[in-house]
Amino acid sequence: MQAVTLDRDGAAPAARDDLARPSPGPDEVLVRVRASSINGFDVKAAAGAMRGAMDYRYPVVLGKDFAGEVEAIGGTSEFRVGDPVFGVLMRSYLGDGTWAEYVTVGGADGIARVPDGVELATAGVLGLAGATALDTLDALDVRPGDTVLVAGATGGVGALAVQYARLAGARVVATARPGPATDFVRDLGAAEVVDYTGDLTGQVRALAPDGVSRIVHLAGDGAPLAGLLAAGGRLASTIGFGPDQHPAAVSILAKPDRTDLDRLADDVQAGRVRVPVEHRYELDEVPRALTEFRGTLGKLAVSLP
Ligand SMILES: NC(=O)c1ccc[n+]([C@@H]2O[C@H](COP(=O)([O-])OP(=O)(O)OC[C@H]3O[C@@H](n4cnc5c(N)ncnc54)[C@H](OP(=O)(O)O)[C@@H]3O)[C@@H](O)[C@H]2O)c1
Repeated sequence: MQAVTLDRDGAAPAARDDLARPSPGPDEVLVRVRASSINGFDVKAAAGAMRGAMDYRYPVVLGKDFAGEVEAIGGTSEFRVGDPVFGVLMRSYLGDGTWAEYVTVGGADGIARVPDGVELATAGVLGLAGATALDTLDALDVRPGDTVLVAGATGGVGALAVQYARLAGARVVATARPGPATDFVRDLGAAEVVDYTGDLTGQVRALAPDGVSRIVHLAGDGAPLAGLLAAGGRLASTIGFGPDQHPAAVSILAKPDRTDLDRLADDVQAGRVRVPVEHRYELDEVPRALTEFRGTLGKLAVSLP
């Protein structure tokens, strides 16, 4: 089968077409992958930056998000062959990822049915970014009346976090560069936009003199952001800024479980949220996409035939 792999320590990611198709174990299903995405995590994994934290089992097939059809069932399963499914691999090692024609899914991985009316291409970019946005906002318990600063609002997680904070009734202040990125976050529901390349603290203070009640920390330095919290405010970080750094901070490790995945799919189906895709790559273009990776407006999608 085709896949994008790292073949040894220090190797660049490469497309190859000679890997064996995996077989599902007793508690797994085999998914024929039709869509995936490029997450910040994948870029780090491809660059070898997860060494030390995770075991690289070569050849490492990269990729975490998937959407496709159930191709085979290893044992008993609530799914049937042909069911459209999507989700996120959640393994403690790097080895059998989703940038491949087939992947086995089970154990701690998140998997859910793709509802009618949601394209596999959309479901394939939804799982990790969406679950991270949901878990972050749930940890912050955002309510009407809150002012939520989303730092890193332009990325895959940020684009969904802005929408969910707005849905929760909050006033959203989003970071973005001037120009198209500012239009992008306004379009998603940000009431105010601050340019993080300028005096971020001054701009936020001008909008919220007593501070903001909640901060979604997806990018940038956490300490000056935490200094913008109002009394009793809270910050949730996906990039490791936690209670050791600030008493009002919590560090998030996303868990894309069935509850999150079903909620995301329902919200997309009902049109309550959308997943902006900046660019769509074919599987064999992914190695190039990784070398060109920079900040995105929304998600980078991967398509398989
Ligand atoms: N803990 C977890 O479970 C978990 C799960 C998923 C993701 N993550 C992490 O969460 C972060 C966000 O994920 P993502 O997929 O949304 O990443 P992404 O798509 O790369 O988005 C990051 C965004 O932040 C912007 N940005 C860069 N520097 C900034 C700054 N100083 N202030 C404000 N915005 C800035 C970038 O835009 P420009 O540079 O173009 O302006 C980009 O749009 C990543 O570091 C990812 O690894 C963690």
